[in-house]
Amino acid sequence: MDKLRIRGGRELAGTVRIAGAKNAALPALAAALLTEGEVTFANVPMLRDVRTMLRVLEHHGARVENGSRDSVTVQAGSIASHEAPYDLVKTMRASVLVLGPLLARCGRARVSMPGGCAIGERPIDIHLDALANMGAEVRLEHGYVEARAKRLKPADYTFPLVTVTGTENLMMAAALTEGTSVFRNCAREPEVVDLAVLLRAMGAEVDGDGTEVIRITGRRELGGAEHTVIPDRVEAATYLMAGALACRRLEVADCRPQDLKAVLALLESAGVPLTAGETSIVVARPEKLVAVDVATAPHPGFPTDMQAQYMALATQARGVSRITETIFESRFMHVSELRRLGARINVEGQTAEVTGPAALAGAQVMATDLRASASLVLAGLVADGVTVIDRVYHLDRGYEPMEVKLGALGASVERVK
Ligand code: EPU
Repeated sequence: MDKLRIRGGRELAGTVRIAGAKNAALPALAAALLTEGEVTFANVPMLRDVRTMLRVLEHHGARVENGSRDSVTVQAGSIASHEAPYDLVKTMRASVLVLGPLLARCGRARVSMPGGCAIGERPIDIHLDALANMGAEVRLEHGYVEARAKRLKPADYTFPLVTVTGTENLMMAAALTEGTSVFRNCAREPEVVDLAVLLRAMGAEVDGDGTEVIRITGRRELGGAEHTVIPDRVEAATYLMAGALACRRLEVADCRPQDLKAVLALLESAGVPLTAGETSIVVARPEKLVAVDVATAPHPGFPTDMQAQYMALATQARGVSRITETIFESRFMHVSELRRLGARINVEGQTAEVTGPAALAGAQVMATDLRASASLVLAGLVADGVTVIDRVYHLDRGYEPMEVKLGALGASVERVK
């Protein structure tokens, strides 16, 4: 298992380019199962989770061709199997995104139930309830979701809570269902909007994406399309935090500042100097970083996917930062690892109180999930001496190699095989 070895305390500077968004690429790739046509994707980040999704698509009979650099063509001329087996789903929960497309295309789908994971229980009951509302018969058997519907029917469905992949699964099912479906209390994340852009290009009518109510008029058949994946706002925000911690001047390029409003507002309140352009943001380490409280929330609120990284930043802010996690019930696994580096953090229920600034000192730490790993990398940049992060495969699921990107900025980060 690879490790990252970071020697902290260096001053960084330069430009970092942001890749396509993992969480936009995953549903978009799954949407290729909705058509016999060819779907060509650009700006696809070549990450472990994306490769897993491509394997899932191949398992269902799709032809997958890697083009130049970050482009991929997928053609699901026919569906070879309507089953997403345990071995694939257990390595990546987002495999559940094939449920909606397979059911709409084949009239049946059998998808292994994803288990809980390091950040919480993460059930998919709402995906299933919503599909049942579209006329699917849904059963749970032998660890699998079995869904059947000769023909799905359009529905008017209100999500009982905001779910990102739940919204995406239903959008895909509705796009291949004749008639108009209305979904209420939808996720408003930019990745949902990006999926809507693709579904429109494939021939469905989609309105209201980016708001709480999405209306979809589906078609019996959808066509091929070309689609460019939006930039990864979580990768961009992670580098903004790196800039605020350790950079004389950092340009975060090829990003979309409009997707990062909550993060930018928080950094500004913390005293971080920022200049946002059309597609880039320049950031620098402030003289004095001040503590700011934050609570995670669905978009446009502060993203749960940035909570761990912000906690690393908060260890260096003067005062007490109260960080409340409202989306997942156990997304504080990074706390004990940050403490090993010398952070002063108290957890009360869903709130972590971070007292800073703390002088961090390098230590051996363990990555527990994707975003927790990123927070340890950030802390390692400012810790005195050497930090060794074990289990970086978590990081590789969602970030282009950080040792390469940070290395180009002057950081001492080395991958140890
Ligand atoms: N929930 C239910 N029942 C459901 C669906 C969700 O109770 O049927 C609960 C979840 O347990 C959670 C809350 O609703 O407490 C919100 O979860 P959501 O469904 O929105 O999460 P997700 O769709 O499974 C996506 C991202 C996550 C990100 C969350 C929240 C993808 C592939 N994953 O997950 O990304 O944290 O939305 O924004 O888009 C990551 O990239 O590190 C990551 C975990």
